[in-house]
Amino acid sequence: MTSLWEATAVRPREGARMLEGDVRADVLVIGGGMAGVLSAYLLTQAGCRCVLAEKDRAGGSVTANTTAKVTAQHGLVYDKLVKQEGPDRARQYFEANQAAVEGLRQLAASVPCDFEERTAYVYAEQSAAALERERNAYERLGIPHHELASAPVPLPNKGALGMEQQAQFNPLKLLYGLLPSIDVYEHAFVTGVEGNTARTDRGSITADYIVYATHYPLVNVPGLYFMKEHQMRSYVIALEGAPLTDGMLISDGGGFSFRTYRDFLLVGGGGHRTGEGPKPSEGYAEVRSFTDAAYPEAQERYAWATQDCMSLDHRPYIGVHRRSRPNHYVATGFSKWGMTGSYVAARTITDLIVKGRSSVQGLFSPQRSMLHASLFSNLGTSTANLVKPGRRCSHLGCCLAHNDVEDSWDCPCHGSRFAADGTVLEGPATKPISV
Ligand code: FES
Repeated sequence: MTSLWEATAVRPREGARMLEGDVRADVLVIGGGMAGVLSAYLLTQAGCRCVLAEKDRAGGSVTANTTAKVTAQHGLVYDKLVKQEGPDRARQYFEANQAAVEGLRQLAASVPCDFEERTAYVYAEQSAAALERERNAYERLGIPHHELASAPVPLPNKGALGMEQQAQFNPLKLLYGLLPSIDVYEHAFVTGVEGNTARTDRGSITADYIVYATHYPLVNVPGLYFMKEHQMRSYVIALEGAPLTDGMLISDGGGFSFRTYRDFLLVGGGGHRTGEGPKPSEGYAEVRSFTDAAYPEAQERYAWATQDCMSLDHRPYIGVHRRSRPNHYVATGFSKWGMTGSYVAARTITDLIVKGRSSVQGLFSPQRSMLHASLFSNLGTSTANLVKPGRRCSHLGCCLAHNDVEDSWDCPCHGSRFAADGTVLEGPATKPISV
């Protein structure tokens, strides 16, 4: 289905090229979503001869379907970060993401993309005590905030915690606006990387540095990404005629999220692990049954599904892809916060390539500990689906589930998706399936 961003942003007529033969560059960025385009843009601005390879059209996949909240408030993250990593690292996480808000604000000053400052709220559907602990963490870390006794959403709640000076925008307007400033090859599907050379069906690209910005890394067995990431699907409905909220809101417990764009109210929810649903009551049905009851006068204008890559500890993996290839970098696992995550990744990888270091390389290192509960649930899902009979995924052979709502074959192990004719919709798979 067409997202609101696809319906309202105009793709530039010129700019992207077709790859013909073999080319050479300082840096190859693989993936033309927000993380890839921002990385290519910052690297180019820093003086690198950088090319970007995108398998379809730039901005045509995950970025087209985000809710595009630009915020350092990632649910209830700071209390956990203080406890698990200590206040210095928690502050570093906030500062890196707030710098991303500012970086995107600066880009928006020259690329019109409906960037608007908003307060981001997390509202307590489940626990006032957890919200109180998060507020204490904000105070300790010096994060500008305020509280509401009740969140302005048509749901019972126990108050909200607002992070000030956050933003929302139209992601495709920004992405399209940056394309003329970078060297882009579209319809260049990288199916493998050998040494410093990426192969596509139209030729090859050899570069001193390679950046994997393909949402789920294209190369994921070396690096163990197949163990440390899974994907989630959730659903967004854009309503016309509903009362507009003043701010961006998200539930503390996986419930509904809200933001506005022009006269539209965007409501998101219905999330589930890709390949494990949606059940009849999930997905669009869950969001629609809520919006029908809460906004009976409103009209649904757009509906679309998003795909999120979840890391083990809900912190992105940004940095060296694997130790044996120190000149290969990765940006993945944004865990539902892909706009600030993309900018943090672009800034960090640019610093690593140009300066040889980044102040946040330890915080986001892909080589950090994997000992988290979700590692065992990822392994359990993979084991169960590797032996289950049925149609096989072309990635690592798990049993695919049919997604009746979107008429696709979805993989519960790592989230690859295939169209009804077997072509790849979402990676990490790179080969079609036979249907
Ligand atoms: Fe990995 Fe299907 S996505 S086995």
